[in-house]
Amino acid sequence: MALITWTPEQFATNVSVHDQEHQALFERLNKLDSTLASGDRGAIGAALDALIDVVGKHFASEEANMEKTGYSGLAAHKAQHDKLVETCLDLQKKFHAGAADVTPETTAFVRDWLYNHIPNIDKAYGPHMNGKGIA
Ligand code: FEO
Repeated sequence: MALITWTPEQFATNVSVHDQEHQALFERLNKLDSTLASGDRGAIGAALDALIDVVGKHFASEEANMEKTGYSGLAAHKAQHDKLVETCLDLQKKFHAGAADVTPETTAFVRDWLYNHIPNIDKAYGPHMNGKGIA
């Protein structure tokens, strides 16, 4: 069973590019989660790298649209992004150095971060961006 499932009711921001990015991000997180049981560090590392890559690109994409449209919540929003990226990069570095593992608690942490961030923080930019012609 998938760790996280995108539904419009729970996650739609009504900005299609970001809704699509969120769905791609969920796919990568589910892939990482489903790879854990294998215990294959090569596969887990590849799935971790793929997830972190898409997270970084998504955050940059959102921040660019917030900046382009003069969104007043940009700084607070970016601070949340930066904190997660710092946590992810630290884990990535330690994992590849053999000093940390990726566990079900890791993927649950990211899932729970998304459960909070998208409905409470991302959705708030929807009406603003829609009003600036980004839908
Ligand atoms: Fe969709 Fe602010 O991350």
